[in-house]
Amino acid sequence: MRIKTIDNYNELSEQAADIVAIEVQTKKNTVLGLPTGSTPLGMYACLVKMYKKNEIDFKNVITFNLDEYIGLPPDHPQSYNYYMHSNFFDHVNVKKSNIHIPHCKDQDPILICREYEQNIKRAGGIDLQILGIGTNGHIGFNEPDEYLYTETHLVELTEETIEANSRFFKSRDEVPLQAVTMGVGSIMGAAKIILLASGESKAEAVKEMLSGKVTTRVPASFLQLHRDVTVLVDIEAASLL
Ligand code: PGA
Repeated sequence: MRIKTIDNYNELSEQAADIVAIEVQTKKNTVLGLPTGSTPLGMYACLVKMYKKNEIDFKNVITFNLDEYIGLPPDHPQSYNYYMHSNFFDHVNVKKSNIHIPHCKDQDPILICREYEQNIKRAGGIDLQILGIGTNGHIGFNEPDEYLYTETHLVELTEETIEANSRFFKSRDEVPLQAVTMGVGSIMGAAKIILLASGESKAEAVKEMLSGKVTTRVPASFLQLHRDVTVLVDIEAASLL
């Protein structure tokens, strides 16, 4: 694992965008695994800027989002589908047919999950997976538990995650209780991974992730077993290392 401590959030976002740009420029049909949340917003803004300056072309890029809430329509402002379009897809040239975001409205979530996993395999696997980290050490919506799932699956969100995400909703009661998420195995199957962490609230989770122990109580700790992970942390998130 490479750990890079970066002075501030803007630089962290630029460095993350540079890693994505190199990947996209190096390989035709790059498959990107994409996160949502506050942390990658700066990275998406940098990528949009690069696209507008003709420095990057997403024409052949294929994307798979990590997760999505269950129970929110795709155009709901707090759905990850909405987030991805308003912060990234609407401003760049990723083809609609190359965008994958798990969505279960009336369909059986088990079938949706199976199909999602097959689509990742059919695309040849993920070349570069970008991750954030939850204050509880989750990656995607793989929440701390006695066991973790390897593949894309339905998940009950923890109290901590519901609480953390309630800042985006009018009230805590509006936060969905379930989501679909790629599994730890789907994430670990990526050829390369970058994880972004910013702010003091992530310091404990970052410390646990890098503790040298692997535990399902800190899902991000599994990344220690992957051979190509770069962790980009700002000074606050690195404060307990
Ligand atoms: P955040 O979420 O970027 O909004 O802090 C990260 C996550 O929960 O994975």
